[in-house]
Amino acid sequence: MTKTRIATPDLPRGESLTARDARFRDDPHPVYDQLREQAPRYADTAYGRTVLTRFEDVRATVRHKQFSVDARLSKPGSYLRRIAGTGVNESAGDSAYEPPLVLLDDPDHRRIRLLMSKAFNPQSIEAMRPRIESITGELLDACAGRDRIDLIADFAGPLPTQAILEMMGMPGSAREDFKRWSEDILMGYDPERDAATQARLREAYLAMGREFRRVVEARRDEPRDDLISAMVRAQEEQDRLSDLEIISLCTQLMVAGNVTTTDLIGNGVYALLEHPDQLARLRAQPELVEAAVEEMLRYDCPITETARIPRNDDTVNGCPVSAGETLTASLAAANHDPTAFPDPHRFDISRANNAHLAFGSGIHVCLGAPLARLEGQIAVRELLARCPRLRLDPQRPPARRALPFFRGFTSLPLLLD
Ligand code: HEM
Repeated sequence: MTKTRIATPDLPRGESLTARDARFRDDPHPVYDQLREQAPRYADTAYGRTVLTRFEDVRATVRHKQFSVDARLSKPGSYLRRIAGTGVNESAGDSAYEPPLVLLDDPDHRRIRLLMSKAFNPQSIEAMRPRIESITGELLDACAGRDRIDLIADFAGPLPTQAILEMMGMPGSAREDFKRWSEDILMGYDPERDAATQARLREAYLAMGREFRRVVEARRDEPRDDLISAMVRAQEEQDRLSDLEIISLCTQLMVAGNVTTTDLIGNGVYALLEHPDQLARLRAQPELVEAAVEEMLRYDCPITETARIPRNDDTVNGCPVSAGETLTASLAAANHDPTAFPDPHRFDISRANNAHLAFGSGIHVCLGAPLARLEGQIAVRELLARCPRLRLDPQRPPARRALPFFRGFTSLPLLLD
């Protein structure tokens, strides 16, 4: 890491360093490459943050034991303060907000993560395989006979929402409401959101919370074999989870678990279709699907960045950082650092040593990674098996979400015939 903060006038800053900017949204890598080479510790003065783009710095930052994820420790006016709110805790009389796991520090983080880790360990997730396969089959059955689909609306969107609802023991009929609320809640990550968007975000957060509260109460009266019943049981046995914590966890699992996995499938299928040689390889060798999904995660990762705040003046790889500074760790840039990934802009479904940071690293590493991987592998494998002529629709260009953090398509029209 270089020892100086660099604010170079010709480098983009603020909004143009986010997916709100059309060029950056289309392909952020020319900018990331420039930052990594010229200003790997870049002072984005417009948004009050320092952007880190080198693999080693990003990894060290997200793993740093003394750094916090609590936005309240960041300096007033910083990027993290702009994006962290749901609006719920800010209005008088609302008591529906509890920070999500990813924004909790120890000891609360450790206590809740431990309780959740059983439900999300690789064995428990492997037990979900038959259900994920049948949800995938049902969605593809509904596409059969059509000559065109929108991959997001018809397949990649509903699949993870349905999977997480089933884990929670909730009816699939609620799928569309939950997907819509999840998309609205994500708008909390738009640093430039207007009052109307903020109101929609707040409503979605409260509506989702009400729905989860109803299920928590029902499971307390009549437990079943599902995730919400397990959380209620943990609460009763050890008095370690409050109702609000359960509801907040459910909200986070829903939001973190569904849009991101939709984006893994959307970004991954798009990368395959843009690289016909790799698509042909995967069709010829379906057993490469696990490695292919890892490369999809590296090449076009669904969560592009995260943040940490030093509690005190400190260092990252020997370089000083100050208390309260918002450190934006760019996972997307780190995943294209040539020192960690040779020929990083090449999409190679059998890439060796693919230790990407798409799921983060350290104590906050993605809890749902085994589930996301399983869904991604089944979705890609079945889609290719069922659709031998799958290709982009030249008449209808895809559209990407204009939102920082969550990189994915809002629409990805494909031809099947
Ligand atoms: C491809 C899909 C996914 C990607 C790319 C992804 C990415 C991430 C990343 C980068 C983090 C760490 C953020 C940080 O360190 O600040 C994270 C945390 C988390 N993810 Fe995921 N995620 C995905 C799917 C899921 C799924 C399916 C679930 C659950 C159903 C989930 C639940 C969580 C939770 C609860 C955390 C917080 C963990 C903690 O703070 O201890 N994610 N995810």
